Amino acid sequence: MKFFVDTANTAAIAELHDLGMVDGVTTNPSLILKSGRDILEVTKEICDLVPGPVSAEVVALEADDMIAEGRKLAKIADNITVKVPLTWAGLKACKTLTDEGRMVNVTLCFSSNQALLAAKAGATFISPFIGRLDDMNLDGMELIRDIRTIYDNYGFATEILAASIRSGNHVSESALAGADVVTAPPNVLKGLASHPLTDKGLAAFMKDWEATGQKIL
Ligand code: E4P
Repeated sequence: MKFFVDTANTAAIAELHDLGMVDGVTTNPSLILKSGRDILEVTKEICDLVPGPVSAEVVALEADDMIAEGRKLAKIADNITVKVPLTWAGLKACKTLTDEGRMVNVTLCFSSNQALLAAKAGATFISPFIGRLDDMNLDGMELIRDIRTIYDNYGFATEILAASIRSGNHVSESALAGADVVTAPPNVLKGLASHPLTDKGLAAFMKDWEATGQKIL
């Protein structure tokens, strides 16, 4: 499973990338706002840090304008993935941009029918939003399982990018459901290493080691 980091914070990306944990990056207009940075500048910096796909989202609502924005964003670096919303205009932009050989991530997916349309439009990635469905007392993970089944039934190559990940459970359940990628905020990815029994076990080993009076170095 690939790990994408869902942030425009370059320091957080660099820290996880140094550990070999970052296969790609996703950003969106809210994350650009949070970074306080210029979209073109910060996206270029991220692309220089991470060789994998870096999603940069269009903000136009009409297909022709999305295509123009997508082409401009794609000029930032070869690893740019143009992110478009799951609307008819976004699907039209997806078709045009993928026909031009660009990577496209279709975002804001909340149903398996939407995912089917994105695959037919040639999307490189489909981004179902798990956390936002869970927030409405719906089952975000069921959507991942349904899309996996549909894509496998017909051999669609579009990768399932589980998004709106809020917890470690979301990560492991996405992996079990067959998502190709999860994109998670840095704190969620870092939290995957934590377990209270690891901390407890380590403390006990340290206490016993001290009692031996030995040193390794
Ligand atoms: C990723 O591509 C999405 O923009 C992101 O995961 C949304 O997450 P949120 O629902 O926590 O804002």
